[in-house]
Amino acid sequence: MTPSDVKATLSFSDGSPSMDLPIYKGSIGPDVIDIRKLYAQTGRFTYDPGFLSTAACNSTITYIDGDKGELLYRGYPIEQLAEHCDFLETCYLLLKGELPNPTQKTDFVKLVTNHTMVNEQMQFFLRGFRRDAHPMAVMTGLVGALSAFYHDSTDINNPQHREISAIRLIAKMPTLVSMAYKYGVGQPFIYPKNSLSYSANFMRMMFATPCEEYEPNDVLVRAIDRIFILHADHEQNASTSTVRLCGSSGTNPFAAIAAGVACLWGPAHGGANEAALNMLKDIQKQGGVEKIGEFIKQVKDKNSSVKLMGFGHRVYKNYDPRAKLMRETCHEVLSATGLHDDPLFKLAMALEKIALEDDYFVSRKLYPNVDFYSGIVQSALGIPVSLFTAIFALARTVGWIAQLNEMIADPEYKIGRPRQLFVGSTRRDVTPLAQR
Ligand code: ACO
Repeated sequence: MTPSDVKATLSFSDGSPSMDLPIYKGSIGPDVIDIRKLYAQTGRFTYDPGFLSTAACNSTITYIDGDKGELLYRGYPIEQLAEHCDFLETCYLLLKGELPNPTQKTDFVKLVTNHTMVNEQMQFFLRGFRRDAHPMAVMTGLVGALSAFYHDSTDINNPQHREISAIRLIAKMPTLVSMAYKYGVGQPFIYPKNSLSYSANFMRMMFATPCEEYEPNDVLVRAIDRIFILHADHEQNASTSTVRLCGSSGTNPFAAIAAGVACLWGPAHGGANEAALNMLKDIQKQGGVEKIGEFIKQVKDKNSSVKLMGFGHRVYKNYDPRAKLMRETCHEVLSATGLHDDPLFKLAMALEKIALEDDYFVSRKLYPNVDFYSGIVQSALGIPVSLFTAIFALARTVGWIAQLNEMIADPEYKIGRPRQLFVGSTRRDVTPLAQR
């Protein structure tokens, strides 16, 4: 962190002594005011629920400029990565800081490919779930359970353990997600096939059966690979911060990533793609395009709590660059699958147009986010809605690991322990039960 020449001074109206606070500059983006000594010097905490103005760490991995609509992984714009790289190159970049050269890429792909199988016992563990369990419930369990199956890579303070667990997690997530899917639909699990690429292998594990081989289609494989790239990391979002906080206690990497999966499940975060598609289906059921006006009215009504899912973002207040790329992929996939006239897609396009012109959304800087389109793409690929968030988790695993490893390797790292403003009862005495 580079100290700035500028200092902040905090003064108090009650005559308490003022305090100088150092400011640090990043390579890009807003400076930060260092408040670490605030409590020791003033006896006061800062108050920032939802982390609206708080940087919880310094990081070299991902940079977002929400006003410009820019997303960089290790400095590279997401548009260039989506065009020139595949998902495993992106994983290498996020984990190691640089894009691989051809030899490094071959070695990395081989390494990941050699870890795609999961311990055979895991399928018996999986069989303990109800068939109708939500895939994210299954994934939270399976990822956490990896720590029980791979004891030799659970020491977060050992760099080799961190490296092996990283490769295992990236390699095994597609196998686990497709197992969760197959279990839910009552089909046999399909083992990974190492002659295929990461994404083609995933599609095959999803859609092949013992009676019918799956022939990977380039456009569709490229689409799922792009979904993985676009979701691979997104700096200190809720699930990543969860992974960092969970891992800060020294817990094992599988447990920390399972915490990330659990957090991602929520509809305000990774669950939004599922929620967006369910919303489209609901509008469709109620009458389709003609009902959009009525739906938008409900969204604007403060008492209704209805939101336009797939719109808005905490950081992007101009546009979500991932949404632009996913919109392109959406058109490619719908052309390749002959679904361009699909009523749900037409409804989505009509909704997008109306929302982009409506003053409610324009004035609040609410634009479609990546999830508005990724649900439509995944649906066209034949992926059921309930699996969308699990696919997001698969893709984000590399980002979680990169962020977790960065934190552990940081000499300044400490267990995360937020403070609070207590507003409950002050000390009081217990009245015995009979007298209450
Ligand atoms: N539909 C309708 N109104 C909205 C929406 C929406 N999707 N999103 C925000 N607003 C409104 C809010 O009601 C608020 O209005 P007000 O100023 O009149 O009170 C204003 O816009 C600002 O919204 P906030 O909730 O303060 O924005 P915040 O940054 O906290 O929330 C969030 C961002 C959670 C993503 C929100 O926009 C949302 O819930 N969107 C729908 C869910 C979604 O698509 N999430 C995916 C995020 S992307 C991802 O995880 C990959």
